[in-house]
Amino acid sequence: MKLKLILVSLSILFFNIVKAQELNVTKAFAAAAKQTDILIKNVDSARKVQPNLVSPRTVENGQFKMVGSKDWTSGFFPAELWYFYQYTKDKKWLVLAKKYTEDIKKEQFNKGTHDLGFMVYCPFGNGYRLTGDPAYKAVIVQAAKSLSTRFNATAGVIKSWDHNGDKWKYPVIIDNMMNLELLFETTKLTGDSSFYKIAVMHANTTLKNHFRPDFSSYHVIDYDTLTGKVLQKVTAQGYANESAWARGQAWALYGYTMCYRETKNKVYLTQADGIASFILNNKITPADGIPYWDYNDPKIPGASRDASAAAITASALYELAKYSTYGKKYKAAANKILKSLSTTYTSKTGANYGFILTHSTGHRPADSEIDVPINYADYYYLEALLRSKK
Ligand code: GLY
Repeated sequence: MKLKLILVSLSILFFNIVKAQELNVTKAFAAAAKQTDILIKNVDSARKVQPNLVSPRTVENGQFKMVGSKDWTSGFFPAELWYFYQYTKDKKWLVLAKKYTEDIKKEQFNKGTHDLGFMVYCPFGNGYRLTGDPAYKAVIVQAAKSLSTRFNATAGVIKSWDHNGDKWKYPVIIDNMMNLELLFETTKLTGDSSFYKIAVMHANTTLKNHFRPDFSSYHVIDYDTLTGKVLQKVTAQGYANESAWARGQAWALYGYTMCYRETKNKVYLTQADGIASFILNNKITPADGIPYWDYNDPKIPGASRDASAAAITASALYELAKYSTYGKKYKAAANKILKSLSTTYTSKTGANYGFILTHSTGHRPADSEIDVPINYADYYYLEALLRSKK
């Protein structure tokens, strides 16, 4: 009888421990929504002073930082509002999402950046998915046309940056993989396969040139557009040319997972599995699953973390789990990351001007946005929370 009682008590204790370790999506979304209410108030106040600045980006040195629509991160804030609408079905979020999405509209014509996937597709893509509004579809299609003008057929890639022409000729960064979703979607919306073909060529060329044998990725590959040859393999935001910049690895994982979804080409699935194995089997990342900003920074364990890389990785792993034979492992890893983010990496209620997560690293070599809240960390965190439910 006594033994039975002990066993029952032990199983209750075990159940409670497991429960406490589980990810609580409802609680995480409620806390995030509270923060975002505060963020919106701060956005509106800031815009009264500087109406050309439309979206909140970060907090640096205690200062709330807003950006104009042409900043690469401008689309994440309205896109987060779409995720709140998707999760809650509350019309309040629909009204807000529509309102702030409009501010990014003119970027559909921007041919000076590869970031149109982030800027335009995140808000308008989610908006179109959730409302079917044909006006959003038109913006997506135009943005894909603008992005396609940056494709060079000889090199087989889309040019990422026009700046720093003294450092490189035709730079392509691993982040660029993220913008291919806009192209895949536009082929589905229009029936015009040229967008799909560009996306596939970019993904194939990147797969060939951007990766090391251990599936870690370089940040910047510079191409010769006359011969298509690689001129140099370097970094801009990482610790060193041969290092593995954490967010770059996350962009690569997300990018090839998405390419597999869109094409069902097994080569992309193998690549995504390889990248996942680099990220998950790395002994450098601490037990909470949140990576240092670069896997090779000699300052580790004193180096800053990058919660944004963790959020992007978690979101990608939930999707990859659906396709890969390692699905169980990926889901467990994503759950662990989200559990960490939603407990020890969130802002205290009312703090950080309403940003949800803390401890991201934007651009360490430029000494910019170190250990701060940042809008893309929040966006991929919400996306990962949504994906965890599926
Ligand atoms: N795409 C720029 C960054 O990840 O910082």
